[in-house]
Amino acid sequence: MGRQGSMALLAFTLFGLLSSVKADSIGYGYNLVGLDDLNNGGGVVGYLELVKATETYGADVKNLKLVARYRGSDRLQVHISDADSKRYEVPQELLPRDPVDSFKANRKLFGRLKVEKSGVISSKKNQLEFHYVAEPFGFAVVRRSNGEVLWNTSAPGSGLFNNIIFKDQYLEISSQLPYKSALYGLGESSRPDGLRLSHNRQYTMWATDIGSWNIDIDLYGVFPFLVDVREGGLTHGVAIMNSNGMDIVYNDTSITFKIIGGVFDFYFFSGPAPIAVVDQYTQLVGRPAAMPYWVLGFHQSRYGYNNVEQLDYVMKKYAEVNLPVESMWSDIDHMDHYKDFTLDPVNYPVDKLLPFVQNLHKNHQKFIMILDPGIKIDTNYSTYVRGDKLDIFMRNGTSHRYVAQVWPGATNIPDFLHPKSQEFWSTEVAEFHKVIPFDGLWLDMNEPANFCGGPTCYFPPGIQTCPQIDECCMICDNTNLNRWDDPPYHINSLGIHRPLYAHTMAMNCEHFNGIRAYDTHNVYGMSEGLATYRALKELTGKRPFVLARSMFLGSGSYAAHWTGDNGATWGDLQYSVVSIINLGLFGVPMVGADICGFNFQTNEELCIRWTQVGAFYPFSRDHSDIHAGPQEFYLWESVTETARSVFSWRYRLLPFLYTLMFGAHKTGAPIFRPLFFAVPEDSRTWDIADQFTLGTDLLVSPVLQQGQVTVNAYFPQGVWYNLFNPSQVVRANNSFHTLDAPLDTINAHVRSGSILPLQDLAPTTTQARKTPYTLLIAMDPESDSFNAPSAICDRRSKATGELFIDDDDTISMQVKDGAGSLVTFEATRKDGVYVLKADVEEGAYAVKQGLMLQTVSVLGVRTAPNSVKVNGKYEAVNVTFDNKASYLTLTDLNLPIGKDFEVSWDCSGSDAFTS
Ligand SMILES: *[C@@H]1O[C@H](CO)[C@@H](O)[C@H](O)[C@H]1NC(C)=O
Ligand SMILES: *[C@@H]1O[C@H](CO)[C@@H](O)[C@H](O)[C@H]1NC(C)=O
Ligand SMILES: *[C@@H]1O[C@H](CO)[C@@H](O)[C@H](O)[C@H]1NC(C)=O
Ligand SMILES: *[C@@H]1O[C@H](CO)[C@@H](O)[C@H](O)[C@H]1NC(C)=O
Ligand SMILES: *[C@@H]1O[C@H](CO)[C@@H](O)[C@H](O)[C@H]1NC(C)=O
Ligand SMILES: *[C@@H]1O[C@H](CO)[C@@H](O)[C@H](O)[C@H]1NC(C)=O
Repeated sequence: MGRQGSMALLAFTLFGLLSSVKADSIGYGYNLVGLDDLNNGGGVVGYLELVKATETYGADVKNLKLVARYRGSDRLQVHISDADSKRYEVPQELLPRDPVDSFKANRKLFGRLKVEKSGVISSKKNQLEFHYVAEPFGFAVVRRSNGEVLWNTSAPGSGLFNNIIFKDQYLEISSQLPYKSALYGLGESSRPDGLRLSHNRQYTMWATDIGSWNIDIDLYGVFPFLVDVREGGLTHGVAIMNSNGMDIVYNDTSITFKIIGGVFDFYFFSGPAPIAVVDQYTQLVGRPAAMPYWVLGFHQSRYGYNNVEQLDYVMKKYAEVNLPVESMWSDIDHMDHYKDFTLDPVNYPVDKLLPFVQNLHKNHQKFIMILDPGIKIDTNYSTYVRGDKLDIFMRNGTSHRYVAQVWPGATNIPDFLHPKSQEFWSTEVAEFHKVIPFDGLWLDMNEPANFCGGPTCYFPPGIQTCPQIDECCMICDNTNLNRWDDPPYHINSLGIHRPLYAHTMAMNCEHFNGIRAYDTHNVYGMSEGLATYRALKELTGKRPFVLARSMFLGSGSYAAHWTGDNGATWGDLQYSVVSIINLGLFGVPMVGADICGFNFQTNEELCIRWTQVGAFYPFSRDHSDIHAGPQEFYLWESVTETARSVFSWRYRLLPFLYTLMFGAHKTGAPIFRPLFFAVPEDSRTWDIADQFTLGTDLLVSPVLQQGQVTVNAYFPQGVWYNLFNPSQVVRANNSFHTLDAPLDTINAHVRSGSILPLQDLAPTTTQARKTPYTLLIAMDPESDSFNAPSAICDRRSKATGELFIDDDDTISMQVKDGAGSLVTFEATRKDGVYVLKADVEEGAYAVKQGLMLQTVSVLGVRTAPNSVKVNGKYEAVNVTFDNKASYLTLTDLNLPIGKDFEVSWDCSGSDAFTS
């Protein structure tokens, strides 16, 4: 959670005025004067010279080095930096990637390639082409297959942005964009505009601790990555690997990056399918982390559970009303004076908390605890003492440590880039785990937050504790600002150009190696996340679970995310869909928003609708603020009923969801996807922000507005079966359909052509994953109308699906070494005969677990078969047929899920099945 008080917004508006300097005086650009092949032929290195110096925003860097490099068939990197000295870049230890250091740029060395007025450097293998113009230097990226210009930093005519600007604390570059481009990404923020980026907006990249109910401003995470869908649906991606503060201005036909440090390091991903873009991007920044199975269960949390008795009460209530609940979470309530790794001796004494957690574990439930990065300065606090001894705290620009104020009062902030910080953090995590065997860690306040903020802050003499824990009570001197706290260009933080030091560390704070918070601010949360992931991995040797608030490109490879302190409003419910889709694009598929809203008092109708949507979030958690009333599902009968209905389906769908997680881990594929992933060629899908699919096979069309009882939902071409009531079918052809959605109903439809692996509902995921499997097979209906003559049952149809299972202890999800099994299912109908086949890759794990397929449910069947063959032999399986729903069920199959099998049946009449 964050601070409640409203920001002193007006005090900072002056910075807005200061930063409006006339654009044409900022810089005159560079000329390309030398060019050479990269040794491996995969691109070029170039040498750029400054055209004419200006002083606005500081002196220009005189000589630049350009590296344009192809990788594989779908990635192009364009890196531009100071040719003469090394500059800050996103630390390799946080995000390992191929450095460009080894390529030398020097005017004299060049000879092999002539610098033309303009030229093209292409690689036969790559889908993208690098074009340049020499004077002033500009570059373009073109899709080879159709010649479409995806990026062009030269403006038509003598446009304003013809020039690249490169100063120590100000970098600027722009590209032309077609007016009709559909852009997505550039997070993190809450977006009332919907999913697609709006023209004439600024997106500010600055990790900020402020409630996510605040719209259109920089929030906790920083993801300078965009996805661009063009006419016809061809899609590409652009990432800039730069962690300095930046404003990204999207105008009608241009996009401009105004960055206050680092280098230009662009990556272009050729797609051309939207999902391929995420695949290519996560190949660079890291594939999403595997998540333990239990993370897919339903989680309960609240800031303001006052003692262990309350935790116990809440868990008992869920059990009493028969709602599944996977875990209890503990916010800062459990801490002794808000100190990390401690317990409040009165309300959360170990002799009460430990038995509570042991009891959870006995019931197959989990316990997750919160951590903040700030370590209270207290010589009687062992965590502080150990950190002090290892000397791993951030310094204030001198040899002294920086002092911040967070919940516990005066704190030092760990430097997670320090070589000894891992030892520090791992020790603290391990020691605390001996006290309370928690199952995962939840990282809050890691922007890092500071209730004060300023270059020098100190406590007034005599003051030890602040009267108000979340109000700054230090004295901060902001008069003599240095060039880090007060850089020449002020990014538009919070939309008011709030100073960089506000609510965080001073910008001249230093890591052990002298790198400043000015450069690393946006990766601070990532550095803590990585240290936490490693600490858990070392501790248990098993797959860790970390939920992190502040993130950066690549953070998804070790942490899940929630959308932070949202509000209990209908608007927040709407933004949640957009934010979760965006995080999926950013490579963070395991993400959710606090169900029923965190801040403000929720209400029954909102909570019903939110529960319906939240059951389909990849990460599904109810969490509320201490200032709002409780909102557990059992508090309203209607919410309880709703939760029972939607969560019984979520739990049945666990094998399907876990298999989607496996896909995300292998290829980056988001679990929770926008409609333009399904039909990018239909531009009507580009603006849909109120529907989503899970994988490709489940389409969810929720109600996100108060009082609404119908939805106008888009359906991709095909037949779609209502998950909750399969007799309700939508036959669609990339078309909108109006559906009833009374208060107790959410529309979720299964795509024909899909096979969903299911299990049974159980109180926890541990129990659910031991129940027998069901395959839900959605075939095209045998006839277009259910009353058509039976001859039409010859229509061919095919459905496919997958199931991944493993022990969820292994760090990655894999079928190698018997760690997991992958089963591919295919059902076909030809001449009235249905054949279902299972093809197993590495069945050993599944066989060892004794996991069985008991039931096959088939949608779209018009007549009951008179007999069934299993593995080629007639078997007396239990056949039930629901005529109205065209729903065939075969039970008692008893087939080991780890072995290939074939089940067939005949709907064509009597001939085929004479035995
Ligand atoms: C980029 O834009 C400039 C100015 O309009 C134009 O001259 C140049 O041809 C464009 N580059 C490509 C590859 O289209
Ligand atoms: C974007 O639009 C704003 C307002 O219309 C204008 O002031 C600014 O110069 C434009 N920026 C670019 C890079 O074209
Ligand atoms: C240090 O902590 C111990 C145990 O928590 C306590 O008994 C003692 O009073 C504390 N000392 C000071 C100086 O706060
Ligand atoms: C750093 O901390 C020391 C000790 O508190 C203080 O005297 C000094 O003014 C601080 N310097 C800056 C730049 O914050
Ligand atoms: C879907 O619509 C398209 C264009 O309107 C049409 O050409 C096509 O035949 C339709 N397909 C089906 C299966 O109805
Ligand atoms: C056959 O399966 C149905 C469920 O599909 C079940 O209700 C019924 O009891 C089963 N019959 C037998 C004889 O097992």
